Amino acid sequence: MGGRRLEPESAGFDPNTPNVARMYDYYLGGKDHFPADREAAEKILALVPEARVAARANRAFLGRAVRHLAQSGIRQFLDIGTGLPSQGAVHEVADSVLGTSRVIYVDIDPVVMVHARAMLDGRDKVAVQGDVRKPQQILDHPEVRRVIDFREPVAVLLLAVMHFVQDSENPREIIATLREAMAPGSYLVLSHAASDSRPDAVEGGTEVYKKSTSQVAPRDRAGIEALFEGFELLEPGLVWLPQWRPDDGDTIDFLDDPTASLGLCGVGRKN
Ligand SMILES: C[S@@+](CC[C@H](N)C(=O)[O-])C[C@H]1O[C@@H](n2cnc3c(N)ncnc32)[C@H](O)[C@@H]1O
Repeated sequence: MGGRRLEPESAGFDPNTPNVARMYDYYLGGKDHFPADREAAEKILALVPEARVAARANRAFLGRAVRHLAQSGIRQFLDIGTGLPSQGAVHEVADSVLGTSRVIYVDIDPVVMVHARAMLDGRDKVAVQGDVRKPQQILDHPEVRRVIDFREPVAVLLLAVMHFVQDSENPREIIATLREAMAPGSYLVLSHAASDSRPDAVEGGTEVYKKSTSQVAPRDRAGIEALFEGFELLEPGLVWLPQWRPDDGDTIDFLDDPTASLGLCGVGRKN
């Protein structure tokens, strides 16, 4: 992964276009990124140096939310916008509580799929390529239907992915389609880049992502809360990433200034 221009190996894999999954991997200190990803990520870090720690705070929220739901008896998880593997994947956290869980990982990025498949058993933990903007296709996918029993409660995870869906692409309708398929007692776990955190950086950050694989659409608190329509938010409601049920066992960043964590998050229950 040196400085030379790399040739795309196949459709869907282009090392020369900044890729949002690989940029996120770079923020998290992973190894799966190319010069174009690093360059774009560094531009974001110049604007918002908090992005690195914010990515970690997002992963920590994921861990706390999945652990809580597994402890509450949720045994099946549909994680859309999975990202490249990093510590504390959904199935690892869920299995640490339940012994075994059923997990579907969905991502638009074929490289994410390759990595996800390599760590899964393919029986009750499966990776499926899909686009959150086409939720019915995800719900109808034969592997999703095989692994997830939609008559039973399921946790649908949309972590740091809905901000890649533009208003013109109807994010609320997307979530409504998912919600309609979910049995009562199911949960929506969502985190989202919040424009209220660093309003001064929204324009510059959006410009950088315009040249990447997915344009970014940070939303304000009201816009993010609206995504929980039809779900009852669990305590403590829609909060900054480190504020969702902080746990003594975890490293919690930004506790002195949660607003700097760049993201709002929450867990909603379908009653
Ligand atoms: C910032 S990463 C978040 C990873 C993980 N969910 C987390 O929060 O740690 C965003 C992921 O969403 C994926 N993504 C972007 N647009 C998507 C879409 N329309 N449908 C499905 N996945 C998408 C990207 O490929 C990337 O892996």
